[in-house]
This record gives sequence, C-alpha cells and structure tokens, in this order.
Amino acid sequence: MLGHLLHLRGIDSVIVEDRSQEHVIERVRAGVLEQGTVDLMREVGVGDRLDREGLRHEGIYVAFDEPRGRVRHRIDMAGLTGGRAITVYGQNEVVKDLIAVRVASGRPVFWDAEQVTVGDLDRQPRIRFLVHGEAQEVVCDYLAGCDGSHGICRPSIPSRHVQLYERTYPFAWLGILARAAPSSTELVYSLHERGFALFSMRSPEVTRLYLQCAPDEDLQAWSDDRIWSELKTRLRTSDGWEPNEGEITQKAVTPMRSLVAEPMRYGRLFLAGDAAHVVPPTGAKGLNLAMADVCRLANALAAVYERRDESALDAYSERGLRRTWRAQRFSWWMTSMLHRSDSGNAFDHKRQLAELEYLVSSRAAMTSLAENYVGIPLD
Ligand code: DHB
Repeated sequence: MLGHLLHLRGIDSVIVEDRSQEHVIERVRAGVLEQGTVDLMREVGVGDRLDREGLRHEGIYVAFDEPRGRVRHRIDMAGLTGGRAITVYGQNEVVKDLIAVRVASGRPVFWDAEQVTVGDLDRQPRIRFLVHGEAQEVVCDYLAGCDGSHGICRPSIPSRHVQLYERTYPFAWLGILARAAPSSTELVYSLHERGFALFSMRSPEVTRLYLQCAPDEDLQAWSDDRIWSELKTRLRTSDGWEPNEGEITQKAVTPMRSLVAEPMRYGRLFLAGDAAHVVPPTGAKGLNLAMADVCRLANALAAVYERRDESALDAYSERGLRRTWRAQRFSWWMTSMLHRSDSGNAFDHKRQLAELEYLVSSRAAMTSLAENYVGIPLD
C-alpha cells in the first residue's frame, strides 16, 4: 500500500520482499477491515474487488453464559457510530489486489530477496540483498521498515535509540478455514468456561473459526473431529445456533503478544505495521494499524517532496504511537474480557461475566466498543 500511495504522488520506491509472491498471497491472516481502511482502498483505486466481494458488517455478537442460558447479544456498531461498519475481506485478498496494482504500475518489486541488510540509516540509507544469487544495492532518501515483527529493520536501530514495551499472553488461537456456509451473518465473539472462541467468515461459502489454546499447542493433537466438537461446545447458544461444519482446508496456531517500539523512527528509517507494533488478534487491529501508518507516512513524504515541509514526517512517530496505544488498550481489553487464564480463578471468571453483562446492557459501553472496533478515521 505504501508503494502504491507513493506511486500516486509520483514518488519512486523499490519494494524488497524476502518471501515468494505465492507465499505472501496464500498466507491466511486476519480479515476485518476498519471503515477507514475500506475508505482508503476505494479512494486510491484498489477497492473494486473489495466492493464486489467484501462483506459489510454493521454489527457483531458477543455470547456468554447467563442464568437464562447462553445468549448471543448483538452490538449495533453502525447504529452506535453514525453508520460506520467493518468489512470482512481477507488480508491476503488485500495483498493480492495491491500486488496487481504494483505490477501494473511497472515500478519494481524484488521477490525472494536473500541476505537482506540495511545500513547508513542516519545519512543516506542503503539496502543490500541477493536475488537469484545476484547482488543488488538500493541507495535511497528514506527507508520504510514494513518487514514485520521478526524483520531486520527494527533490530537495526541502535538499542539505546529505541524502547520496547512488550507483553505476552498465556494463550494462543487455533484458527481454521472451513468449506462451510457461515451460519450467522455477523461475527460471534464467545466466552465459554472452556475458553474463548470466535466465529468469523471469508465468503458466503467459507467460515473462519478460532479457539483459544495454549501458546505451545500441538496441532497434531487436534483432529478435525476434536476441533469441531470444541468449537461447537464453546460457540453453541441456547437457541440452538452453532457453526456449520465443513471440510477444514487450513489450520494454524496464532501466538498472542503486544509490542510497541518507541519511537517509530530512527534517522531516515521509518517503521510501519508489525515492525513497529504488534497487537493480540482480538479485535483485528493489526492490518488496520499498518494501513494507518503507511497512509500517514505517504502523506508526510509527499509534503517533503512537494513543499519541502518536514513537519508531518517529524510528527509521524508521535501520531502513530498515539493510535497504537489506543489500539493496544482496546485489543488488550477485548482479549482479557474474553479469554480464560489458567492463572485466573473463579473470581476472574465471574468478573468477566459481569463485564460482558455490563457491556451488552449499557449503550455507553457498547458505543465504546463499537467506535474502537470500526476504527477512528485515518490521520
Ligand atoms: C478475524 C480475526 C480477528 O482477530 C478478529 O478479531 C475477528 C475476525 C478473522 O480472521 O476473521
């Protein structure tokens, strides 16, 4: 997206990716786009397939145990936020659309880059790598570190110039894709005494489901039958609602952690997305934070080249950190409200139920969830 935004402003960029194009396209990730992300994609001409295939959701459900049984409660996000909504559209579909527009622009992307190193970050950044055994070097005005939480850009900042704030969670998500028609038109976030479960989807034919599990969970121990039995136990509500079963086409364990690097800049290196911050998946903020970063960065770079105005570039980190901490707070809150911790006791479970009951009975509490879930406008 950053490459595309820069291209639209007439700014050259080179994209260096150490994975293959197939890997990037096929890796299944989250699938919830905030209103601001959808608006941005449309505005910059990459929203056609999103408009055709994306599923606009104006509400979500939360399910938990009450004296009268397990009930799904709807939170009317659009009604509570003046018409804002989320759109379900896989992250890898977004990536596919962005690759297509990049290729059409004729600007360079290097796939399968090996031995990538960056240097001279405080003067004139350079990036060196091998492609098909051939050495390449790019010397540039600015380097955007969009290489994820395990990438090379963040660790290339001298440690005295960056402060890390980190939290790990004592659980993970086991996620599956199933060839099954979604049995609910909207997402269901569920707290069960056996742990969290989430019902989501990718299309009218594909259901996406997650189960809270241990961080070191062994996927081999999860037969398809065991997965369905556990999902149904945790999701089923007293009115008989449960997910439809179908062939499981993909299984993976997603770890959960929070990480923030401050500042998001060192010299001429600007960190964006997971290179700068990681959120636990509950609430689906990761991709959306990355979109906000690159939108802000592209606007700031355009101001430098068009007007020699560096003020937005100088404010890049501070503005990004404000948004990041807001998302960290929300993702942490959603996570702690909906997951069972081994270290927790019966008090904690009762407190979680009280929190959920308050949430669904208070317009103020639902509005707080809704405005964070649909996302604040990109800045
Ligand atoms: C999905 C992922 C999330 O982290 C979430 O909170 C909701 C939905 C998904 O992959 O569909």
